Amino acid sequence: MKKHLAIENGPKTVEKKFPWPIYDESDVEAVAEITRSGQWGNPNCDGLVKRFEEEFAASCGSKYALSCVNGSVALRLALIACGVRPGDEVIVPPYTFIATASIVLEANCVPVFADIDPDTYNLAPAEVERAITERTKAIIPVHFAGQACEMDEIMAIADKHGLRVIEDAAHAHGAAYRNRKLGSIGDAGCFSFQSSKNLTSGEGGMIVTDDEELYHKMNSLRNVGRVHGGQWYEHHFLGCNYRITQLQAALLSSQLKRLEEQTLTRHENGTYLNTLLKQIEGIEPLARDKGETIHSYHIYIFKYDKRYFNNLPKVKFAEMLAAEGVPCFMGYPKPLYKQPLFQEKNFMCYAIPEEVDYTRVFCPVTEKACSEEAVWILQHAMLGSKQDMEDFASAIRKIQDAVKYYSG
Ligand SMILES: Cc1ncc(COP(=O)(O)O)c(C=O)c1O
Repeated sequence: MKKHLAIENGPKTVEKKFPWPIYDESDVEAVAEITRSGQWGNPNCDGLVKRFEEEFAASCGSKYALSCVNGSVALRLALIACGVRPGDEVIVPPYTFIATASIVLEANCVPVFADIDPDTYNLAPAEVERAITERTKAIIPVHFAGQACEMDEIMAIADKHGLRVIEDAAHAHGAAYRNRKLGSIGDAGCFSFQSSKNLTSGEGGMIVTDDEELYHKMNSLRNVGRVHGGQWYEHHFLGCNYRITQLQAALLSSQLKRLEEQTLTRHENGTYLNTLLKQIEGIEPLARDKGETIHSYHIYIFKYDKRYFNNLPKVKFAEMLAAEGVPCFMGYPKPLYKQPLFQEKNFMCYAIPEEVDYTRVFCPVTEKACSEEAVWILQHAMLGSKQDMEDFASAIRKIQDAVKYYSG
């Protein structure tokens, strides 16, 4: 019998709310302590900021960690410190947030889009290899949704061609590949602490690295070009003020205590949800067999096949699922290169070579993921219970059942 969908004023499958961020009095007290101290800023990036950086570096198994205002700036500082020059090419995926590619433009370099793997939605190593030219200087693999890229293959390609690797780990706090924390494998790894992220202080960013020279260069770029041991008004490089406050460091340090347990919960729930969704015709969770040991599930992604849902378009399906109470979203509407920024070359003052033309770029796997396939369940929902995962699966089954009677 047809069950009434929530979108048609029927009962919701999932009534529970999934809060984010999660905090208690210990977080409030950590921030209150700094508030009372009056030491809100930290122009030398020592004290609490330094302590949090050390805690974060240790959590990644990296030698150094450097905080900054957000994940975009983290990527930009890492790329510039890696020594790129104007006109150099940097390989990025087209299925990611705009910052992964726009920071390349901001360094006067050229983002070159390589398609993603249809099983994982991460950069496909063979596509990376195909995109390499004599101008390529770096690769930015994005551990999309918290799933590890195929880092053995990517590092081998980088070694072979003498390229730098900057991991975009904005989704991947606490996640691991062959038991190594993501972010700690390439030359540098960049994290975001923006409000939706698995570790957050509202805004913020972090770079981890084992490379001492890179660390000192990034430290200078973050701090208006100052250098270790230099005078206050002595500026050696073209940097800016990208420092975080002590208030952010206090909150992040307090939140970091929860990260491991939360990551494990998301990982286990994701694994369980995979077993449930695999049983539904027309629903396919992304593959999990490419070397990742912990998936941080910043996003739980599954592939939707409308043929098993009476040809219901993905956008409509995602709306129905959200109405059923599953915190979900249809994801990126189009590949990055289709954004007006690239199509219209609205690069403003940045000096990008004339011959660069994004109207000719076509990455079929990304096109399909955006237009018809990918559906996202958001990270805070992955902190729920096993029963919640079962309810998410029930909501999908309810829609599948109801749309049999659907005429569009
Ligand atoms: C994959 C990816 N990279 C980079 C960023 C940039 O981080 P932020 O928003 O902190 O600048 C984001 C943020 O959403 C992201 O999702």
